[in-house]
Amino acid sequence: MSDALPRELPSAHPQGTSGVKAALTALYNWNYESEIDQLRTLYANALERQWIALRDLDWSLAIDRDAFSRTFSLAGIPIQETQFWQDLAPDMRWEVSRRSAAFMLSNFLHGEQGALMVAAQLVNAVPHMDGKFYAATQTLDEARHVEVFAAYIRKLDEVYPIAPGLKQLLDNVLAAEDWKKKAVGMQVVAEGLALYSFRDMRNQTKEPLLKKLLTYVSRDEARHTGYGVKYLSAVVPTLDASERAGLEDFAFESARLLIDSRVGNSIRQTVFKLWEAAGIDMAQAFGSIMKDRERIAQSMQRTGGRVGPIRGFVIPTLHAIGLFSERIRGHFDEMFEANVGRETARRTGEIPDLPEDLEAWVNEGYENV
Ligand SMILES: [Fe+2]
Ligand SMILES: [Fe+2]
Repeated sequence: MSDALPRELPSAHPQGTSGVKAALTALYNWNYESEIDQLRTLYANALERQWIALRDLDWSLAIDRDAFSRTFSLAGIPIQETQFWQDLAPDMRWEVSRRSAAFMLSNFLHGEQGALMVAAQLVNAVPHMDGKFYAATQTLDEARHVEVFAAYIRKLDEVYPIAPGLKQLLDNVLAAEDWKKKAVGMQVVAEGLALYSFRDMRNQTKEPLLKKLLTYVSRDEARHTGYGVKYLSAVVPTLDASERAGLEDFAFESARLLIDSRVGNSIRQTVFKLWEAAGIDMAQAFGSIMKDRERIAQSMQRTGGRVGPIRGFVIPTLHAIGLFSERIRGHFDEMFEANVGRETARRTGEIPDLPEDLEAWVNEGYENV
């Protein structure tokens, strides 16, 4: 048994397995002709765009620590531009960046494992042959994502356990009987949030291996989100009002588990604990960062502001597929107001349009990578 364990994994890696009862009905479809052309096209694209982690990325490169700490950002906030950050010793900057990034990337890694299992479930559970074909390619994509995130985190030398909210979301999606709930929870909410966050991190970081890895992974994720959008857009109009409301509720609950600070253990709270563990005096840090809030605001304004993955991407997606009624908008508004205050929630309340071509949106500036 011990021989089967990869020796390079750091000792902090959480060992063992755990399970959740995952019932679904496996559906045969005896019609092998294409029924939803857009999904068949997406399947053909996926075959065309396969890549190989060991061949296409240079794993011999060590992490460029300076580039890594210089361009570190916390959930889109350019912390590296503050006086507080510039005053830290380079070793401390690296340590704080390393721990925070290891926490974020660990959750990306665990989320990818969940996506791998859900994609495999979709092969069984979706009723259309085009949907099954596509989900088969996504299963392979997700295996590759688990592979590359695990390999990168190995270089950071620290793996954190899965965040409780993300674990609950994955459990709920795996356990859902209805394939449409799986598609909403995984393809729209979890993958939408992942795609937005990967692209954001890719645009921020100057660390070459991470930048390239995230570009490759984001291209795959753009297809995965595209699958959810195209498939559900075709199916949602055929549902009755109560089924539609059930899907909206499932989407809202999935998003709430990831971002609602009232559930405790929010990502931001956990990251601050990591900073403390690295030796930062948080009271002093907050005081110092507050002095720079004008500079932070200006810098964020220059880069187009930041609405975050839920408002910037997940809600526009729900809107596009017909799952954002006034009723569910009220739930989201209430959550944002409770989290960031009424003023801020209103100021950033505009829903942007979903980019028309997701792949082009991901590739912006990186066409030749
Ligand atoms: Fe993925
Ligand atoms: Fe994915």
